[in-house]
Amino acid sequence: MVSLHDFLKFCKEYLRSKGIDSPELSTEAIFAHVLGKTRLEVLLSRQDLSKDQILKIQRLIQRRGKGEPLAYLIGVKEFYGRDFIVNKDVLIPRPCTEILIDMCKSFYSKDNTLFFFDIGTGSGNIAITLTLEFPNFRGIGIDISGPALDIARLNAKRYEVNDRLSFVQTDLLSSIQANTADLIVTNPPYLSPKLLNGASPEVINFEPMNALFGGPCGTELAVNILLHSPYVLRPGGRFLMELDSSQFPEIIELIESQGCWKDIKLAKDYEGHDRIICVEKV
Ligand SMILES: C[S@@+](CC[C@H](N)C(=O)[O-])C[C@H]1O[C@@H](n2cnc3c(N)ncnc32)[C@H](O)[C@@H]1O
Repeated sequence: MVSLHDFLKFCKEYLRSKGIDSPELSTEAIFAHVLGKTRLEVLLSRQDLSKDQILKIQRLIQRRGKGEPLAYLIGVKEFYGRDFIVNKDVLIPRPCTEILIDMCKSFYSKDNTLFFFDIGTGSGNIAITLTLEFPNFRGIGIDISGPALDIARLNAKRYEVNDRLSFVQTDLLSSIQANTADLIVTNPPYLSPKLLNGASPEVINFEPMNALFGGPCGTELAVNILLHSPYVLRPGGRFLMELDSSQFPEIIELIESQGCWKDIKLAKDYEGHDRIICVEKV
């Protein structure tokens, strides 16, 4: 018989020896996932583990020890206080993307009715959160990846927003008609080769490259979306996009040269770097 308590301690030590960040969190979350308990219940439990439970935990701990992200191992990631299903086909939602939702909340109230596009929807975390936070919003999440859209649809079903949100597999805004939206939100792939070089092995080795790489300059997809957006947005519509802080000078120059936007606003992430840009169509 192996006690949960002893095996928990052993697994934490194992992950620590492999240099994994927050070995306690990873271990407790994996135990909780396999045993169907909360992390607190795991910590308080005095039970013994069955052979089958040990094997399942061991397999996941070994994968974590090789750097596989915790979210892919347990199949969920929290975003804006809700759990989203994730797998290797989608980017793991990041806390900094929550700022985009906060920014929308600074412009819109629960009474606002509008139609939005979320470009590069991935797990659907942004689109679904908007639909849940604003009961009168309707929208479409766009992605070029079919497997990513399968996950977005699962999440939409889980949160019962299918009546106000749908998903379309297409290339950015290429097939979207003129004057159809009041809001465009996007967290496009924006890493350049240089930014990719600085990313952690957990990101580069496990997250989908088509969700990360934005082209040789990093901003190719962002520029494409920005150029198409005035055509798709109605007058007074808003555009919000996440980028790396180093990319805003180029993007602001483009916005100013387009001559169809006003009211440029930037929001910083939790580390104090510019992260989200918002503009309003004239
Ligand atoms: C950075 S991820 C964002 C995922 C999610 N919206 C989030 O914020 O966590 C970018 C997404 O854009 C999608 N994508 C990449 N190229 C695209 C294209 N040409 N057209 C539409 N979506 C694209 C990727 O499949 C990926 O899901």
